[in-house]
Amino acid sequence: MQYKLECIGLLTSGGDAPGMNAAIRAVTRTAIYNGIRVKAIYRGYKGLISDEIVDFQTQNVSNIIQQGGTILKTARCPEFRTPEGRKIAYDNILKHNIDALVVIGGDGTFTGARIFAQEYNIPIVGIPGTIDNDLYGTDSTIGYDTALNTIIEAVDKIRDTASSHERLFFIEVMGRDAGFLALNSAIASGAEAAIIPERETKVDQLEELIGHGFRKSKNSSIVIVAESDVTGGANGLAERMRKEHPEYDVRVTILGHIQRGGSPTAYDRIIASRMGTAAIDALLDEQRNIMIGIVNNEIVHVPFTKAIKDDKPVDESLLGVLQILSI
Ligand code: F6P
Repeated sequence: MQYKLECIGLLTSGGDAPGMNAAIRAVTRTAIYNGIRVKAIYRGYKGLISDEIVDFQTQNVSNIIQQGGTILKTARCPEFRTPEGRKIAYDNILKHNIDALVVIGGDGTFTGARIFAQEYNIPIVGIPGTIDNDLYGTDSTIGYDTALNTIIEAVDKIRDTASSHERLFFIEVMGRDAGFLALNSAIASGAEAAIIPERETKVDQLEELIGHGFRKSKNSSIVIVAESDVTGGANGLAERMRKEHPEYDVRVTILGHIQRGGSPTAYDRIIASRMGTAAIDALLDEQRNIMIGIVNNEIVHVPFTKAIKDDKPVDESLLGVLQILSI
C-alpha cells in the first residue's frame, strides 16, 4: 500500500437524504472491522474547518439504520469554496491524523472533494446521498427511493380531494435541475402528466398537455411539476393555466422538505449498506477520488469528474408511457 490507512474521516454534506445514516453505519463498521479508526466530522465541511471531529466506535452507529436525516448533521459551506477555508480543513486533517476521507452527499459535496483532493493529495471516496438522483454513474442515489415513496403517498391523498372537488392540481416536487423525482412519481401515482426541465427545449409541455385534451374524459387531474426555473414551477404553471383556461378549477401543492425526511425504504438501506462497505473496500484497494455507484446491481467506481460533470439523462421514453397510461 502506497499510503497508510489507519484512520478515516467521515462526513455528510449538502442536503440530507434518507439512508445517509445507514451509510454512516456501514462505513464505520466496515472500517473498524478492518482495523481502521473512524473520526466522525460533524456538519460536513463546515465541521472540518471548525474542528468538530470526534472518535466513533461501533456503538455510535447503533440503532440508526432506520432513522432519516443524518446523525452527523449537515451543512452547506461557502468557506470550503475558498483556498483559505480548505487550508484550515487540511490542518485539521493533519491534527487528527486522518489518512483518507469518506464523504456522503451530492454534486456540491463531490465538487468540493475533487478540488480538496487535488490540492492536498488526500484520498477521498464519495457515496452518493441525495434525493435528486442526479449523479452520473449510479442507477440510484441514496434517498431517492424513499423520496419517491413519500411523494406518491402524498399524491394519493391529494387525489382524493382533487377527485371530490373535480379540480386540476399542480403538485411541485424537488429535484433541483433534474426531473427524476417528477417523472417517476408521476408514473407511480398515476398522474396525468409530468413537467420536467429536461423536456423544455422540445415542446411547450403545458400546451402539449392541453392539446391532448387531458381532462375530457376525467373529472380531475394531477400534474407533477419539477421545481425549476425552466418549468416555471407549479405556481407559474397554475397562473398560466388560470389565465388561458379559466374553465379549470386549479390548485397548487408544493411538497417541499417533507420529501427529504422519513425512515428510509428497504431499498435505500440496502444500497447505503452496500455502498458504505464498498467505500472502505475501495480505500483498502488504494482507490481515490471516486464515487461509489451501483449499476445493474454491481458496485462500480466513478471518477468524481464524471459523476458531477456528465449529465445523467432521464429516460424520456417514460413521458410516452405516462401519456399512454393517462388517456
Ligand atoms: O439537493 C437536494 C434538495 O432537496 C433539492 O431537491 C432542493 O432543490 C434543495 O436540496 C433544497 O435545498 P435547501 O434544503 O438548502 O433549501
